[in-house]
Order: sequence, then C-alpha cells, then structure tokens
Amino acid sequence: ASTLGAAAAQSGRYFGTAIAASRLGDSTYTTIAGREFNMVTAENEMKPDATEPNRGQFSFNSGDQIYNWATQRGLKVRGHTLAWHSQQPGWMQSLNGSSLRQAMIDHINGVMAHYKGKLAAWDVVNEAFNEDGSRRSSNLQGTGNDWIEVAFRTARAADPSVKLCYNDYNIENWSYGKTQGVYNMIRDFKSRGVPIDCVGLQTHFTGGSSLPGNFPTTLSSFAALGVDVALTEVDVTSASTSQYAGLTQACMNVPRCIGITVWGVRDSDSWRSSESPLLFDNSGNKKAAYTSVLNAL
Ligand code: XIL
Repeated sequence: ASTLGAAAAQSGRYFGTAIAASRLGDSTYTTIAGREFNMVTAENEMKPDATEPNRGQFSFNSGDQIYNWATQRGLKVRGHTLAWHSQQPGWMQSLNGSSLRQAMIDHINGVMAHYKGKLAAWDVVNEAFNEDGSRRSSNLQGTGNDWIEVAFRTARAADPSVKLCYNDYNIENWSYGKTQGVYNMIRDFKSRGVPIDCVGLQTHFTGGSSLPGNFPTTLSSFAALGVDVALTEVDVTSASTSQYAGLTQACMNVPRCIGITVWGVRDSDSWRSSESPLLFDNSGNKKAAYTSVLNAL
C-alpha cells in the first residue's frame, strides 16, 4: 500500500491524525491529511471548553467542521474528550462538588447526544492519573473517587454504539507507576462491569532511540484485560525513525491494538513543533520516519 491508512487497513487497523479546524483552508494540509489517513481526531474542537462554552449551551460548529470534512472523505472520527482537568470552560473550572458532578454528567449527555451513532470511539476520561499511579487531584477528582466510573456509565447510556476509552500519557512503560495505576483501574472496571472498551496510550515520546521499557508488555497486558488498545496522540522528539518503527511494530504485534493516530500532519502543525516530531516536514514532504512507519505496517 502507498499510504498510511491503506497500509494499516490491510490488517484491519486504522492510521489517523489530529486535525485542527483552523487549518482546513490550507490545501497542502488537507491534501496530505485526506490522502494518508483514515481516522481523524479533533485536536481541540471537541474538548469541553469548545463544546460547552456556557453552561447548558452547546457549540458544535468547529467540531462539526472537522467531522464533516472527515466523513465526506470516508474517514472515521474519534471523539476527544469528555471529562478532563484541562481545557474546561471557565464556568466549569469554578465548580466543585455535586454541582460539578452534575455538570460533568450533563456535559457528557449533551455532547454525546449530538454525535450519537457517528463516532468510532470517545475518549471519555483523559489524564486522570499522577505519575506515581495515584489519582491526579483536580476539581473532578474532588467530586469523589467514583467520578471516572460515573463518566463511563453515563457515556454508555448516552450512546451504546460508540467505543468508550480511557486515554492518558506516560502509560507506555510497563514498569511505571502510572501505567500500573491505569491498568489496575481498568482491571477493576472489568471485574465490576463498569463499561469500558478501550485504552488510549497517547505516546508522546521525548528523546532517545529505543521504546519505553517493556512497551510490548504494556500493550499485550492491557489487551488481555479485554479492552482494545490504541496509540492516540503519537509524536516523537526529532521523529526518531527507530522509535516510530518500533511503536508501529509493537502495535502490529498485538491483535487488539486497533490503530495509531499521530498528533498532527506536518511538523509545523504540531503542539511540539520545535521538536519536529511528526511524519511530514513543514513543506509537507514525507520524512524518513514516514517510510519507517509505512514499512512496519
Ligand atoms: C493539545 C493540543 O495539541 C494543543 O493545540 C492545545 O493547545 C493543548 O492540547 N494530551 C491531550 C491532547 O490529550 O488533547 C493535548 O492536545 C496534548 C496532550
């Protein structure tokens, strides 16, 4: 196959990118994105600050721009994200306790109703753990330790057809506290019947040429809990070809690793642009890392 999406599809997987609505008028960007990828994540446009700028008043304009652009080209869309300590609208940042708990539930219901039946997956909860595997303190965590399972139960009821994911960064190294914390939560959810279908490893790699310790073990261990695994926000310092090839191969080796998403198209589109972490250079040319990924798919 000659594109990332087509190559991934040969094994039933997808290859995606983050898309920014503000760049959809850039034809170099849309040409590459429409050609290479078969899954799209809105980089910011489906986050709580974007979708519910005022309490009870939802706004889907920029999210729908991305959704429409993608689906008109036959690309699928992952939803990102419903409950997160960051990028909350101002009104939500100032809430706590039972009113925040209710606002979270209302937010999930409002956003999921709009996209009901339309998305491949939702990152229901994003980044809820500390590096040591304990829960990250936030206004959401302050509503009670059960906030994550309430979010997932609410999400399942709101749209039973969409896959529900937990998403986080620094959960790639199996010997890391945060990885174990997330693993234990998912194991607990599975044992108690809390609805969860997938775990997203953001895969923001920072330096070096080898993969985080026991990365394959992490993927297979999560999968063995009965959830799908996806690499959801991949970018790699200086686009190390060995790390890109390695993370792709690691996903290919695990049947339940269902797809890979890079966090942007060209280096200049990246939130880490100074690190040149993506597969296309600022002019839209394929980098060496592109070839190493394509060859590993
Ligand atoms: C980032 C976006 O790329 C930036 O444009 C924005 O300013 C901040 O958020 N983890 C996530 C993503 O789950 O939503 C973040 O995206 C990167 C880290």
